[in-house]
Amino acid sequence: MSDVLANLDGPLVRIRNLKLEASTQRGTAHILRGVDLDIGRGRILGVVGESGSGKSSLASCLLRLLPGNITHLGGQIEFDGTDLLKLSDAAMAGWRGKRIAMIFQDPMTALNPLFTVATHLVDVLRRRQPGIAREDALLRARAALDSVGIADAELRLKAYPHQLSGGMRQRVMIAMALLVEPDLLLADEPTTALDATVEAQIVDLFESLRQKFSGSIVFISHHLGLVAQLCDDLCVMYGGTVVETGPVTEVLAHPRHPYTQALLACEIEADDHGGRLVSIPGEVQDPVAPHVACVFAPRCAYAVDACRSTVPALRDAGGARRVACIRFEEIA
Ligand SMILES: Nc1ncnc2c1ncn2[C@@H]1O[C@H](COP(=O)(O)OP(=O)(O)OP(=O)(O)O)[C@@H](O)[C@H]1O
Ligand SMILES: [Mg+2]
Repeated sequence: MSDVLANLDGPLVRIRNLKLEASTQRGTAHILRGVDLDIGRGRILGVVGESGSGKSSLASCLLRLLPGNITHLGGQIEFDGTDLLKLSDAAMAGWRGKRIAMIFQDPMTALNPLFTVATHLVDVLRRRQPGIAREDALLRARAALDSVGIADAELRLKAYPHQLSGGMRQRVMIAMALLVEPDLLLADEPTTALDATVEAQIVDLFESLRQKFSGSIVFISHHLGLVAQLCDDLCVMYGGTVVETGPVTEVLAHPRHPYTQALLACEIEADDHGGRLVSIPGEVQDPVAPHVACVFAPRCAYAVDACRSTVPALRDAGGARRVACIRFEEIA
């Protein structure tokens, strides 16, 4: 049914007014405060923002894998004509690991230490193609390891996860995700646990996969430089909201939201200071705070009274760009 309804010209995923709330000792945490976002077909969308801005929570909503203290999940996640939030738990489970796959920051959270690489890869293939013969599955597993740049694939298939380096484990995770051939691949900080050289290799690998993988990728990262190199589109998040979206080159060349501008200035300053972390002055948004104003207003140099009393809509800023700031026309 969903395939019949699919509009192939539109985005793969259309997220509207996505809200996620949790109960905490301090009150209700507004983790996502009405996120609007499109994920284009066959495109790589980078999601950036400081720690706590809601990037991982967004990925969790797409997988509908949420912690126990969640009290409200509302809005729409329309995926090829199907609203994921309306699917039964059983139907949603059928989407995970088939149409939507995930690569985590720490591959050990997803790899079973008791199983060899071959077992992991064959399992993934069998989930997709239950009748596949073991020999055929092993051949495809070997080819998958080759395609993610793992030398001695034959030997590595027999290895257990702890016998591999961090970079190698992440390559195995990517190979598993590619065998699934999902429509949407979510990668949450897939390079953060790696040292800089291996990180660069993994980003190169993602780039080279572009020819082989026809699905869309959501690439969550703290690192604007990586996102600039890899992604087509950019989504900048802050305080559980999307503050700016658009083609990555346009947003980075001419950021319109004061938060994007501040984030970019930090990155440039960090480069000037030999990579030392530089941060935007002020406290990050408290998730328990009510949603009555622009989330960035307390830290924004351009904030006026109206910013402290109204929630800014994500507005058209020309072309495919959207900005959630009532003053973007004046300040950019
Ligand atoms: N289950 C939960 N209960 C209460 N608060 C939560 C829960 N999950 C997330 N939060 C809060 O929601 C906010 C967003 O968290 P999230 O992990 O999505 O951020 P993030 O952008 O992925 O950060 P990081 O870059 O550190 O990974 C944070 O303030 C976090 O403390
Ligand atoms: Mg996160």
